[in-house]
Amino acid sequence: MSRFYVTTPIYYVNDEPHIGHAYTTILADVVARFHRALGDETYFLTGTDEHGQKVQQAAEKRGVTPQQHVDEYVVRFQEKWDALNIKYDQFIRTTDDKHKAVVSYLLQQLWDKGLIYKDSYEGWYSVAEERFLTDKEYEEGEWRDVKRLSESNYWFKMSAYQEDLINYIHDNPEFIQPDFRKNEVLGFLRQELGDLCISRPKARLNWGIELPFDDEYVTYVWFDALTNYISAIGYPTEEATFQKWWPVDFHLIGKDILTTHAVYWPTMLMAAGLPLPKTIFAHGWWLMGDAKMSKSLGNVVRPLDLANKYGVDALRYFLMREMTPGQDASFTIEGFISRYNSDLANDLGNMVNRITKLLGRHFDLVLPDPGETMPEDSDLVQHVSGLTEKVRSELAQMKVNYAITHVFDVLREINRYLEEMAPWKLIKTDRDRAGAVLYNAAEALRLSAVHLYPVMPEKIAQLLVVMGTSAQARLNEVGWFEWGHLKPGTKLGKTDGLFPRIEVQEALEEKAEKLDLKDEISFDDFMKMDIRVGKIIKAEKHPNADKLLKLQVDLGTEQRQVIAGIAEHYSPDDLVGKFISIIANLKPATIRGELSQGMILAADDGKTVSPLIPLKKVDPGSKVR
Ligand code: ME8
Ligand code: MG
Repeated sequence: MSRFYVTTPIYYVNDEPHIGHAYTTILADVVARFHRALGDETYFLTGTDEHGQKVQQAAEKRGVTPQQHVDEYVVRFQEKWDALNIKYDQFIRTTDDKHKAVVSYLLQQLWDKGLIYKDSYEGWYSVAEERFLTDKEYEEGEWRDVKRLSESNYWFKMSAYQEDLINYIHDNPEFIQPDFRKNEVLGFLRQELGDLCISRPKARLNWGIELPFDDEYVTYVWFDALTNYISAIGYPTEEATFQKWWPVDFHLIGKDILTTHAVYWPTMLMAAGLPLPKTIFAHGWWLMGDAKMSKSLGNVVRPLDLANKYGVDALRYFLMREMTPGQDASFTIEGFISRYNSDLANDLGNMVNRITKLLGRHFDLVLPDPGETMPEDSDLVQHVSGLTEKVRSELAQMKVNYAITHVFDVLREINRYLEEMAPWKLIKTDRDRAGAVLYNAAEALRLSAVHLYPVMPEKIAQLLVVMGTSAQARLNEVGWFEWGHLKPGTKLGKTDGLFPRIEVQEALEEKAEKLDLKDEISFDDFMKMDIRVGKIIKAEKHPNADKLLKLQVDLGTEQRQVIAGIAEHYSPDDLVGKFISIIANLKPATIRGELSQGMILAADDGKTVSPLIPLKKVDPGSKVR
């Protein structure tokens, strides 16, 4: 027996939990359940990241304190995880007193060791990202809320660990997975690593953990957040617990937060004199169709919508089966349905029906005696018996989809075995042998299904009850993973379809009917927008971006410069003299170095982008309502 510690990122508490968050968390749940089932002592940590500017701003907007705000919002994650049958051992919140004390302790340690110093810095600061941008990032990116800031701050001497980190990565091939992500980090480390700004002045942000050595500052959110992985397991006060779980086996993360985990975090640990994580595993991105999923695109699938309709386990199965670890995967309802029908309704569901029907017809559902294993049986027995090792080794590399594939390979073996042995014929000449064949098939099915238990805990528990495992298929039952666990003489249950087929046509029609709308807003909310008709008096290409146009718009009493992402659809000449509508009270932003004072309204059906124009001539500056 060994121990296993797995974590997910702690999600921003402000976010609406979506399928991306659900994926990482279900993945952690699946590997944790598998290790528990094998008898390993297992610890699964998830939680929420609750400090920082976005939380402070959101709370201000709602007129509540940040603490009230996060207390209300955290529930959305906890409820989703419950609904998705996720069994974590701890849900950590960065506003927990215990966590805050550990962050202070760690900062004080590094301060005492002279690894933190104070210095001033001037640069471009992204409010949205809550960090300073490098000049290169500033020039190359499209940033909305960027301002020039000069500030005194505290810095962690991250640069001192650059060589050590590079060497560590080379010496520990398992440290960053998959391999191509490791190479990405090594590539990043080829440039000179700077020091890490780990404070924010309270004058600008006070929703954070105060620095223990200067009460005019709070801690940078990432320094705070990363520390959760050790504060949760008793660092530094509960020595024995901490020693038991650290270093972590897997930090599961998305590729978006690779640098913070594979560079900031290890250097923080080195500075604290602690061992580094065994593996940081960065998975790919769930895309909707082929568009990147984000809230602003309005295409965030609420995992529960599908789970309510087709079952939690169907959703868990799809997410685990469809993504190749490390790669991006595409979410479509069509893909979901076809996966469900082919794997669950057909391969697995039909196998259960077939075996229980044969046993019902010929043996009154009482499991026959297997007798002695014959040479014709040994292929099947071997296949099934090797499954645990195969699944274990795939999961050691987070290859859940391959682990699942091995199970379905065995199901195909069972089919082949039944076809070859044809117990429905054999029953007429050799009833005992026919019974033995059916026992073998049933036991092979049970043992395969056990390996899907971590992915589909509810459905597989039902299946195991049907297959005659103890009334409550319990985890860790002795012999669960061994051939011969099913006892002859056991009465099997009946099933009327564990995985009923989804009628594709119906499901797609339903989808077509439903407009994917954003959350409802009040009339007052709507009235906050000031939409005006404007006349384009000048149009030119944006100097730094191919997809953008720079427009000068006449609004009657004033003129505005507006940056619009329509250069792929319109040339500047198409637009001069045209009347369009713009949101005139949108906060100005600098887009690739050019000021934009408003946004053009345009319809977009995925093929054509068409600015909204007034039907009759009205004066520039006219209100739209
Ligand atoms: O970054 N596909 O939190 P976050 C797959 N608080 N996974 C996705 C995804 C997608 N489209 N979108 C999100 C933060 N994820 C920090 C973490 S940890 C010390 C602090 C998942 O709410 C994926 O795991 O932005 C990604 O890394 C994470 O959500 C980011 O969550
Ligand atoms: Mg994010």
